[in-house]
Amino acid sequence: MRWKIALILFLTLCLNTKQSSAQQKEGKAENVCIQCHSQLGGKFAESVEQWNKSIHKEMGNNCEGCHGGDAADIGRAMTKEAGFLGKPKLLEIPDFCGKCHIGVKENYSKSAHGISAAKTGAPNCVTCHGNHDIKKASLELINEKNCTRCHTYDRPQKIKQALAGTDKEMARLTAQIKDVKGSSIDTKRLEEKLFAARNAIHQVTHVLSVDRISAMKATTDKELSAVDESLKGIEKEIIKRKRIAIGVSLFCFFAAAVIILYRKTFLKPENWFKV
Ligand code: HEC
Ligand code: HEC
Ligand code: HEC
Ligand code: HEC
Ligand code: HEC
Repeated sequence: MRWKIALILFLTLCLNTKQSSAQQKEGKAENVCIQCHSQLGGKFAESVEQWNKSIHKEMGNNCEGCHGGDAADIGRAMTKEAGFLGKPKLLEIPDFCGKCHIGVKENYSKSAHGISAAKTGAPNCVTCHGNHDIKKASLELINEKNCTRCHTYDRPQKIKQALAGTDKEMARLTAQIKDVKGSSIDTKRLEEKLFAARNAIHQVTHVLSVDRISAMKATTDKELSAVDESLKGIEKEIIKRKRIAIGVSLFCFFAAAVIILYRKTFLKPENWFKV
């Protein structure tokens, strides 16, 4: 243990000098967790390398967002007073991630995985998503390789099929909304409806119940066909407006032609005394 403390103190000194010059250059504090851990090597640096490629880095969830601690002060960085949580134990992980992903955690806790995790070692957040290299989630995470380590693939497959069908229809409707967006018709309400439907069904993924997901799919599909109907209405309206515009232009064209013809025939000086 002593060598670890000595190492931390040594690095603290090195970083303090490095940080002050970096700070002078950039005018702001660097994240000390990242600075120190990148120099530690092995699994301590690996966490930084993996996190660098993650959606969390992209969205600004840094080391201290998950682990707690003070990322601006080397002396306090990994202390209890700064709220440092350390490395979570396996069964603590759902709460650890659930600080931010509240709805997902609730659904996970109700699932067969959440309920039996303590007894059976069923998967938790990190088993499926990884810890530092977390990417944008998709249904691709449900596949034979990931989901047949502990049981058969029939239930995962049913869940994936139900969600994939709905996702496809959502993608089609999203593209269609984009198409009609250029017209003066307001599509905001439809976009909001689609967004809400998407979130409602994807929220249920973590419950992992084939029945719950099928029931939710029925509701979502109804919402989607309502959006589809509205879009059809909008398309009809756009065609109607186009027809009216063409009608008006044609009318103007003929009116202009008649006036010109009239002026040519009746307003020429040689025609003045013919009538
Ligand atoms: C000055 C260097 C230094 C800084 C700054 C630093 N760490 Fe560490 N960290 C270490 C060392 C060395 C270890 C391994 C020794 C140990 O576990 O005490 C470690 C271990 C860890 C562990 C694993 C703990 C365990 O129980 O296995 C986590 C998690 C961690 N650091 C996160 C952070 C976070 C988050 C920050 C910023 C708020 C941070 N570190 C800042 C040097 C640093
Ligand atoms: C999304 C949350 C999250 C973020 C952000 C995060 N970690 Fe972690 N980290 C974890 C989890 C969860 C574990 C426990 C790993 C496990 O059990 O799979 C862990 C474990 C660790 C460990 C212990 C590794 C080991 O194998 O003993 C270190 C060190 C660590 N993290 C450092 C960092 C550093 C440095 C950063 C910032 C670059 C960071 N973490 C960002 C979630 C996170
Ligand atoms: C401090 C808050 C915070 C913590 C703790 C946290 N995350 Fe996140 N996470 C975010 C933010 C912010 C995003 C990006 C916005 C979004 O997509 O929700 C995100 C995105 C994600 C995504 C991608 C979502 C998508 O849209 O596809 C996954 C998966 C994820 N986190 C899993 C985890 C896991 C697993 C843990 C625990 C190891 C964790 N998160 C801990 C804040 C957090
Ligand atoms: C059995 C594997 C598995 C476990 C365990 C798991 N997830 Fe997921 N997670 C997935 C899959 C698959 C998706 C993508 C599903 C979808 O698109 O509906 C996902 C999606 C997500 C998303 C994005 C949600 C969205 O609206 O797009 C977040 C955030 C997330 N998970 C966080 C977590 C957290 C936090 C935990 C632990 C409490 C957890 N996951 C546990 C498989 C898992
Ligand atoms: C580490 C082991 C493990 C892995 C990996 C795993 N599961 Fe499970 N799963 C379990 C356990 C344990 C149960 C509860 C006992 C049972 O119903 O078989 C379970 C149950 C289920 C159920 C039934 C839920 C119910 O209420 O009937 C579904 C659905 C499921 N898992 C989906 C998945 C999916 C999807 C994946 C891959 C992303 C996956 N599992 C990966 C261990 C695992």
